[in-house]
Amino acid sequence: MIPDTYRGFWGEDDLEAGKKYAIDVKNLIEFGTSGNVAGFFAESIQGVGGTIIFPDGYLKDAYEHVRAAGGLCIADEVQAGFGRTGSHFWGFETQDVVPDIVTMAKGIGNGAPLAAVVTTPEIAQTLATRIHFNTYGGNPVSCAMGKAVLEVIDKENIQHHALEIGKSLLDGLRGLQKRHSIIGQVRGKGLMVGVELVKDRQTKEPASTECAQVFERAKDRGLIIGKGGLYGNILRIKPPMCINSDDVKFMLEVLDLAFSEL
Ligand SMILES: Cc1ncc(COP(=O)(O)O)c(C=O)c1O
Repeated sequence: MIPDTYRGFWGEDDLEAGKKYAIDVKNLIEFGTSGNVAGFFAESIQGVGGTIIFPDGYLKDAYEHVRAAGGLCIADEVQAGFGRTGSHFWGFETQDVVPDIVTMAKGIGNGAPLAAVVTTPEIAQTLATRIHFNTYGGNPVSCAMGKAVLEVIDKENIQHHALEIGKSLLDGLRGLQKRHSIIGQVRGKGLMVGVELVKDRQTKEPASTECAQVFERAKDRGLIIGKGGLYGNILRIKPPMCINSDDVKFMLEVLDLAFSEL
């Protein structure tokens, strides 16, 4: 069950929502598998799924259920990692868990083709008895670019910047929400932001066509954003982490116009 406190069964007002959604993982293991599982993959904040931010305690409990069934917990940090959430370097830290395996890409290379897997020596050792081949694996040029990116993230305090600039973006979007009733929810952590569009705030009927229109109108004015969620009704806003307050102002102006034109 997707742990979505906007659209799901247990909402933001339920302090136990994380625990309750995680019980679904336990139920699935018990009733839908042999009782032993190999592993559990989860993005720490769902990206293409529509910027779904899990309720507190969700991954902690889900990991516990998976580990009790012999499984490993794998965090996909391809979108949420490298300081984007602002408060933490890794998305999984926002859920207070330590995964067994972490997959990472995108932000690691700032556009350069690079991805990595980090795990414990014990788990890594299993590959020593297997063949793993990758044409560009271990490419030293890509690795040098990745190292440079890490140094810049550190030196220029990019994580803190993502927190501050992300807050101004979220505040601005919440301002737009007051004027455009199609905006059902604005959510995000740092510069991982989602704007969910609905035809009606009570029924939460997804405004998928309108979302596509806003997406296209914004693009026509020079603002490229993403779109996601099962119904394609969520604007996914994950800009480069070096954006400044003028960029945020521009984004908000363009979105305001695009919403006004609906
Ligand atoms: C969350 C997430 N995980 C994994 C991938 C795929 O990563 P890669 O292209 O490095 O395999 C993507 C997107 O391409 C993604 O958004």
